[in-house]
Amino acid sequence: MKKVRVYLIGAGPGAPELITLEGLKYVCKADVIVYDHLVSKEILKFAKAGAEKIPVSRFGKLHKNGFAVDQEKINELLVTKAKEGKIVVRLKNGDPLIFARGGQEAEHLAREKIPFKIVPGVTAATAAAAQAGIPLTDRRYASVLSFITGHEDPSKGTTAIDWKNISRKGTLVFYMGVENLTFIVKQLIRYGRKSSTPVAIVEKTTLPGEKIVFGNLENIIRKAKLKKVKPPAIIIVGEVVKLRKQPNPKEKENGK
Ligand SMILES: C[S@@+](CC[C@H](N)C(=O)[O-])C[C@H]1O[C@@H](n2cnc3c(N)ncnc32)[C@H](O)[C@@H]1O
Repeated sequence: MKKVRVYLIGAGPGAPELITLEGLKYVCKADVIVYDHLVSKEILKFAKAGAEKIPVSRFGKLHKNGFAVDQEKINELLVTKAKEGKIVVRLKNGDPLIFARGGQEAEHLAREKIPFKIVPGVTAATAAAAQAGIPLTDRRYASVLSFITGHEDPSKGTTAIDWKNISRKGTLVFYMGVENLTFIVKQLIRYGRKSSTPVAIVEKTTLPGEKIVFGNLENIIRKAKLKKVKPPAIIIVGEVVKLRKQPNPKEKENGK
């Protein structure tokens, strides 16, 4: 078997402790670390002396190291570094295969015949649910759990989301949805969710400044505005939200 050259690693949702031991092991031995803007800088402190650390973000334009940061350039960067004989770690927010284009990076590496390994990470949905004390599934209320992109442009006229089917059942977790909250709420009500359905929004989960807002489909837009909720945030919709056991995780942590 060929030696692994690139590790696609989930760094978790924010708190550095949430990377896995396996992920951290490869961070420690990497020659090059290519990381997203939501990845904790604390994790980078585990890199060996002299390791090259390259920030990339699809939202920026150019970083001072000269790399353009669209997805194709990131793919090329991984291949170039691996072909130089380096051990490359690609650190991604949350899990590398959930709304993260880790799949595209893996495809590109496979095409270029670069041996790679994928290391899973704690995804923002499960971290947010844990922080808010919400079980995402529950035998009484939700046997179906959907992870949905909230990033679709409502003005584009077409949708990859089957609103009719997803709206009706189980727990819905929206990633990248805060800026489209009004559209999401309207769609869910239009396709059959009761306006009394409980909702939680968890901003910056596991990070300093984490914010958790509870409401229902009728009042969550107003509440989110009032609390100035911003990305990154996770929106959890469904009856399970009312099972929350932990009104304020920080109080619990402090033993109050
Ligand atoms: C491009 S997606 C990446 C998802 C990531 N791969 C994962 O598995 O969590 C970015 C979105 O993930 C969610 N997200 C990531 N980190 C978060 C955090 N610390 N708190 C709340 N939401 C977060 C937000 O919905 C954000 O807009």
